[in-house]
Amino acid sequence: MQQKADLTEASSIIRSGGLVAFPTETVYGLGADALNPKASKRIYEAKGRPSDNPLIVHIARLSDLEAITAGISDKALLLAERFWPGPLTMIFQKNDTVPLETTGGLDTVAVRMPNHPVALALIAESTGYIAAPSANMSGRPSPTQAFHVKEDMEGRIPMILDGGPVGIGIESTIVDFTEDIPMILRPGYITKAQLEEVIGEIRMDPGLSGGERGGRPKAPGMKYRHYAPRAEMILVKGRQETVIVRINELVQEAASEGKKAGIIATDETCRCYPAGIVKSVGTRVHEETVAKHLYGILREFDALNVDIIYSESFSEEGIGQALMNRMLKAAGHHVLEV
Ligand code: TXA
Ligand code: MG
Repeated sequence: MQQKADLTEASSIIRSGGLVAFPTETVYGLGADALNPKASKRIYEAKGRPSDNPLIVHIARLSDLEAITAGISDKALLLAERFWPGPLTMIFQKNDTVPLETTGGLDTVAVRMPNHPVALALIAESTGYIAAPSANMSGRPSPTQAFHVKEDMEGRIPMILDGGPVGIGIESTIVDFTEDIPMILRPGYITKAQLEEVIGEIRMDPGLSGGERGGRPKAPGMKYRHYAPRAEMILVKGRQETVIVRINELVQEAASEGKKAGIIATDETCRCYPAGIVKSVGTRVHEETVAKHLYGILREFDALNVDIIYSESFSEEGIGQALMNRMLKAAGHHVLEV
């Protein structure tokens, strides 16, 4: 658990317009005072983030939502009651309290109440509103441990609060309430079915289907190649036995070309690959474990300087939808059907 003195120092940095990385239940965030335009600008500089990519504003009390938005629907309130604090971000019309620097020039604002004691304490003790993207350099996999933040941000920010490994490992589900029918702009740990159980019909952003054929996603951040390792990554999709055979062939081919290959396998399959650097990302029985370890494994392959990563795939059911969304982006939509 975080030392009280660290939290006091961190909140004073936020209040004076500086940056602090902190743990949330999804991934580590890079925080700044969301209502201070200069502070928000520092986030973009530190991450090398395009300035049209808006930030999520993190709050610690439901009663703080009204002060930054222009109208909250009953459905949004129902979701807040059911899922906050938790891995759900909702988008509303903003009011003038929120600077355009924080929202990437948009007149809407994304808001989330994270479910992590350190995050909640930091928000409550600083200014009540912390803008925080994932604490990685733009384009790299999101950090799920404090040392990942250090890899990307050391020397660029004054403080990193270490809360140990995060619990979830992929970013929050984003639901846009400025549409007639609420729309999922980014799948996450909370599934479409869980949301629909509470408020009824929800749509998926048609721009999410991605790849070259897909349209343009509404969340500006979803259009970038993202969550990506440095190596080329290829997702291999099909029946498990066929996938294993094909990956083994590909690893052989890579080796004959002098390339170092990594394999993303699962607990169930990791013994089926005699060559290449094999890592299990988790168990297929509990895909939450896969979500939790995915970004860390992409970083491990970077550290090993592999040239190419072959990865098994998952079905797009439940949390698998968010998982495959991130894996497809990491692979730049490079999929091999076998
Ligand atoms: O789990 C999370 O949400 C983490 C933790 C730190 O809370 N944060 C996170 O932030 O993933 P970031 O900046 O890496 O991703 C925010 C996404 C981007 O794709 C951005 O384009 C989208 O949210 N977004 C933010 N505000 C938006 C808005 N007003 N309209 C549409 N998309 C928005
Ligand atoms: Mg991010």
